[in-house]
Amino acid sequence: EEALNGSQIFSNSCAACHINGNNVVVANKTLKKEALVKYLKGYEEDAQAAIVNQVTNGKNAMPAFKNRLTAEQIKTVADYVATQAEKGWL
Ligand code: HEM
Repeated sequence: EEALNGSQIFSNSCAACHINGNNVVVANKTLKKEALVKYLKGYEEDAQAAIVNQVTNGKNAMPAFKNRLTAEQIKTVADYVATQAEKGWL
């Protein structure tokens, strides 16, 4: 069977809380570049690694995905989020 792409993984696992790069739980902690730079540790040094860490381990009200997604799926969705943040989620 074919691997899911980043957009598909995002729709399945993230969009409930992060539709269009927003955050329905903690409104200021969006997936927009400005918020990622401000709140996500290490984002400017290595965006993919910082997002992989957040998704793998979770934080506060965000669940950990290490037992729900494979390491490859987490990397794939992290790349998708970093790309979308650069594009402004348009
Ligand atoms: C924060 C990605 C799933 C709730 C974040 C951040 C990232 C992220 C990169 C940091 C944003 C920032 O600090 O501005 C993802 C991805 C997901 C996912 C890629 C899917 C694999 C979810 C789900 C929920 C959720 C399903 C709700 C049940 C939150 C919350 C925060 C957050 C509450 C803020 C955490 C805090 O610092 O207190 N997410 N997320 N996320 N996410 Fe997610």
